[in-house]
Amino acid sequence: MPVVLSIIGQKGGVGKSTLARAVTVVAAQGDLRVRLIDLDIGQQTSVRWSTTRAAGRAKHALDAQAFSTVREALKQTGDIDLVVIDTPGHLSAETFEVARASDLIILPTGTSTDDLHPTTLLLYELEQIGVPKDRLCVALCRILDAKEERWARHYLETTGYQALDGSLPERLGYRRAHNRGKSITETSETALNERANELMASVLKKILRHVRSANGVYSR
Ligand SMILES: Nc1ncnc2c1ncn2[C@@H]1O[C@H](COP(=O)(O)OP(=O)(O)OP(=O)(O)O)[C@@H](O)[C@H]1O
Ligand SMILES: [Mg+2]
Repeated sequence: MPVVLSIIGQKGGVGKSTLARAVTVVAAQGDLRVRLIDLDIGQQTSVRWSTTRAAGRAKHALDAQAFSTVREALKQTGDIDLVVIDTPGHLSAETFEVARASDLIILPTGTSTDDLHPTTLLLYELEQIGVPKDRLCVALCRILDAKEERWARHYLETTGYQALDGSLPERLGYRRAHNRGKSITETSETALNERANELMASVLKKILRHVRSANGVYSR
């Protein structure tokens, strides 16, 4: 059975597809057999990006597929180590199905109260449907100011949650990378890649906790 990592949130444009694409790239670079599932059937941001990536002959070609339900998506994944699920920017019954099927859930959020409030409400809601707290990770994204980031970390702590180590600043270089079928760890600016890799390292650390043995067998 693969490890299932989903990226969910109820706000549009917060960085779900950004993180889904980056985790997929770093996992593939780490020789994991990874599949990127796009449940955003309307936009298919991740699938379209993977097509751009393939056309640009990027070093690590990726397996990206669109599905309308997580149930369908998780069929025939026996030969996969990691499934990364990108979801639409609104909540639905399917979002909670995704959460139930996930070993790890990342909630990207901005650092304003307008972003943090719905994020914490969703965290509570996920716990209420039985998702264990240790499966829930918050990623601070589109950061504009270090002070606001510190404040956001404090806000989350006071609500009983912790943000992942690392964060993603708002930078044009990340957008440009996406336009070329690259991930936030593959921009043309070393500093941006390092920053993105720091966040990815803390995500990978969580993923690797699920590794049961060195030969790519995972526990759920
Ligand atoms: N840190 C960043 N700096 C600059 N641009 C970013 C950053 N993160 C994301 N973007 C850009 O913002 C846009 C929205 O990001 P993304 O597609 O990841 O959001 P999303 O949460 O998946 O949105 P949706 O809810 O519509 O699916 C994209 O064009 C992406 O390239
Ligand atoms: Mg998206």
